[in-house]
Formats: sequence, C-alpha cells, structure tokens
Amino acid sequence: MKAIVVGTGYVGLPHGAICAEYGHKVYAYDINQERIDAYKSGRRDEIEKQINEPGLVPIIQEQLNRNLFFTTDITDEIEGTDVIFMCLNTPPKRGGATDLTYYLNASHHIAKLLAARTDKRRVVVVNKSTVPIGTARKLESILLEHGAENVGVASNPEFLAQGKAIEGSRSPDRVVVGADTTADLQILRGIYSAYVNHVRIRYIETTPETAEAIKYLGNTLLLTYISFWNGVGGRLAESFGNIRMEDLKLGVTADSRISTWGSFVSNGAGGSCFGKDIQSLIYQLKQAGNRADLLESVYEINEYQKSYMFDRAGYEAGFNFNNKTVTMLGLAFKKRTNDMRDSASLKAVEALLAKGVKEIRAYDPLAMHEATRYFDPEQNHLFERIVYCDSVTDALTGSDACYVSTDWEEFRSLSKELRATVQTPYLIMDGRRMLPDYNQLVEDGFDYLPVGGKLLRKAADNTLSLNGAVVESDPAVA
Ligand code: UGA
Repeated sequence: MKAIVVGTGYVGLPHGAICAEYGHKVYAYDINQERIDAYKSGRRDEIEKQINEPGLVPIIQEQLNRNLFFTTDITDEIEGTDVIFMCLNTPPKRGGATDLTYYLNASHHIAKLLAARTDKRRVVVVNKSTVPIGTARKLESILLEHGAENVGVASNPEFLAQGKAIEGSRSPDRVVVGADTTADLQILRGIYSAYVNHVRIRYIETTPETAEAIKYLGNTLLLTYISFWNGVGGRLAESFGNIRMEDLKLGVTADSRISTWGSFVSNGAGGSCFGKDIQSLIYQLKQAGNRADLLESVYEINEYQKSYMFDRAGYEAGFNFNNKTVTMLGLAFKKRTNDMRDSASLKAVEALLAKGVKEIRAYDPLAMHEATRYFDPEQNHLFERIVYCDSVTDALTGSDACYVSTDWEEFRSLSKELRATVQTPYLIMDGRRMLPDYNQLVEDGFDYLPVGGKLLRKAADNTLSLNGAVVESDPAVA
C-alpha cells in the first residue's frame, strides 16, 4: 500500500521505517529541510543527530529509495495514496491545553492537497500523535471544509516507548484503530496485516473517540503507577528504618493483579508524553465540567520528585549546596535516548542553580549536544555554571557531590570511578538506585542517599548505620 507520513520526529520516523519494512511504499514528509536532508543522506551520524532510536538506522539504510522516501513536498505523492499518518508535534500549552498549531497547519495543507488530487480513491487520514478527544472529528470537518472527497479519518494512537520503538513496533502489545466506517477499518487492516489475527497482538477496532481516550487513559495510569511507587512506596522506605525497597516491591508485585512496571522508584518520570498527557487529560476533564483530583495529585507528586533529592540532601545529610561543585550524571529523560523533553534533569539543574552551586559538571552518553540547546546562557546566565564533560571521570573531577539522574547502564559501575577520582567526605545522591555496591562505598566513607531508601553514612563507631538500625546488604538493587 502507499502511505504518507506527515512529521518525521520520534513517532513518524520509526513508524514510517517499520511500514516500509513491512513492504508498503512510504513517503515521509517534513517541513524541516535539515531533518529530511539528514535522513536522505542515509548516514548514521546525521540521522542520529535528529532521532536516536536503537535499530532505526539499519532499517532506514536498507529501505531508503526502495520502500522509504523522504521529501519536503508531497504534492505529487498525494496521488494514489491509501493512508496519511499524522505524526505531528502536539506540545502542551500553559494550563494543560494541547497546542495543535502544527497539527492544524498540516491538516489544512493535507486537506487542500486531497481536494486538488485527480485520483479519487478512498484515503484515510490517521492521527498517530496523541491528540485531545474529538480531534479526529475536527480533522474530518477540515477535510470537508476544503472539499476533499472520498476521505475518512481514523485515530490510531502510538503506544511505543522511546528507546524501544523498533522492538515495540515489530511486536506491539496492541494496535488500536478507531474509525467510523468498515471501508476505513479495512484500509487500516491492509496496512497492519502483519498484526491482524495475530496470536498474541490485540488488534482492537473501535470509534475514533474511544481510541483517543485509550491513549490518554493508558499513559496516565502508567504515570499513576510511577507516582504511587515514588510518592508512597519510596517515601515509606525513606521514612522508616530497615525497609528494603526491592523486597517491598517484590512482595507487593507478586500479586498477579499488580504490575511490576512503574515500581522502579526514580527521580520522577520525564519524556514528552506522560507530563503532557496527564496535564491535557486534567484539562479535558475540567473543560467537560469534571474534577480531576487524583490526576492532579499524580502530576504534582511526579513534578516534586524531580528535585526533592536536593531537599533531602539538606535535611537528611546536612549538605549545603552553596558554592559547591555537583556532578550531574545523565541528562536524557531515560537511558538509550538523547531526548531531554521534560527530563528530570531540567528541574534538577534549575534546583541546583537556585541552591547556589558554583558549578554543575554534567555528563550524558548521548544527550550532550541536546543539552546545550536547553541550557542556553542567553536565556539564563546561571547556565554558564554548567560544564559539559566527556566522561564520568571528567564529570566527577573536583566535585563535592554527584547526582545520578538517568538510568544509563554505565552508571552501575560508578563506584570504581568515584573511588579513583574524588575524596571523602562526598555525597552520592542516587536518583535511580543504580549502585549495586553502595554498602562498600559507605564503608569507604561515602555518604549514600538513594531514592527509596534512607541516607546511609558510616557512623563514628564504624558500624554501618541507618538512623540507628544496622543495614544488611541488599543484593537486589533495581
Ligand atoms: C511512554 C509510554 O510508556 C508509552 O507506552 C507511550 O506510547 C509513550 O509514553 C507515548 O505516549 O508516546 P516513554 O515516554 O518513551 O513512553 O517512556 P517510558 O519508558 O514509559 O518512561 C517514562 C519515564 O518514566 C522515564 O523517565 C522513566 O525513566 C520513568 N520510569 C519508568 C520510572 O521512573 N519508573 C518506572 O518503573 C518506569
């Protein structure tokens, strides 16, 4: 089949690549010439500067100019197309509403092109980006307004997690397609023939509005899990002695009704989806005259989590940040991506600067280039205090404390670099519970403050103490 993908960001590019891999002819369209040139070059470094997603580059290289074409003009490609996937950026506005500017501009553009086409075969315009409930209906009216004929609309939300987009596309849990007519559902079945009647994949056909709601409800439930563990489970282990976070998790999630996903306590969930989607859902519920107390609490808990370790460092460890050098390990919102949208590190940097640190020595295996866009000294002169480092060792050099912000695997061996590079007294703030041998570090004189656990500090009498309770080794750090 012939498909056009409108928007080649984190949703559109992997989706287009996978559709091409499944044998469809895919025209990936973007107004950003630099992006399109990078993809067209087929060069790993150029593509990854735009979107870094494991497994994506080989597909692009293999399909480029076979089944996958990149363009900034789809005037000719609109002829004979079966499906148009809308994969536009839908950023949040202040107050939680969704900014549909890019989406609406693209919709009008597509509607005009569809109205002008000579081939009048059925075409379905499909929303893949997360858009408020009722947007497919709005799209339908835009298409009609421009006189596009024989067109349908559908909602087919993307459920992929970044860093696992390719893996997830090849083997999704479910595909949800919301459309009004059997003809349109049939066209989508053609595109997704690999998933229809699959023994494991749930292929769900429903109304456009239900499909839109499924996406919001799914993401906010996932964030609710995370906030529950961070704001309740983690807090218990941080407040009462001798609670082992990993055992607590194990004991609770052993109930087959309770998911293990979300139980990895952290410095708050970031990324372009959770924060934006929950705010949007709160807004949508309130606009419809409802209350959204639960969701408001979930959101607040998650936001506070992004900087609360520094408050704990003050009142639990007695650490004064003023004029100190702090190492920031990880800037991306999670491992395996260079994406910093809504990353916990953004709040953390702001909080550290507000506490008067002299220098932040930052390191991330992938997001260094991205970081310079976020921390522009012209926007805030305090960002001049950020030093971009090219390794963990470089970032630790001369620091008084470090903060693990992203769950990069390479930070699991941080203890080695710490011992070789810094002097105690030294405070380790572990926002991801990454250090397996923290007991040994504490033995060596480091102060260890983990999320989901009390401060660990060697007592004067040489016993490893936790507010009086002797801490046993906990082998199961997540
Ligand atoms: C999320 C959802 O997981 C996808 O299903 C959804 O399709 C996507 O949003 C979207 O709407 O496009 P993503 O934002 O890529 O995917 O990332 P996740 O892997 O879900 O992680 C989000 C954040 O939660 C990260 O900062 C991660 O470190 C954190 N997290 C995750 C935790 O703190 N604890 C956990 O147990 C799991």
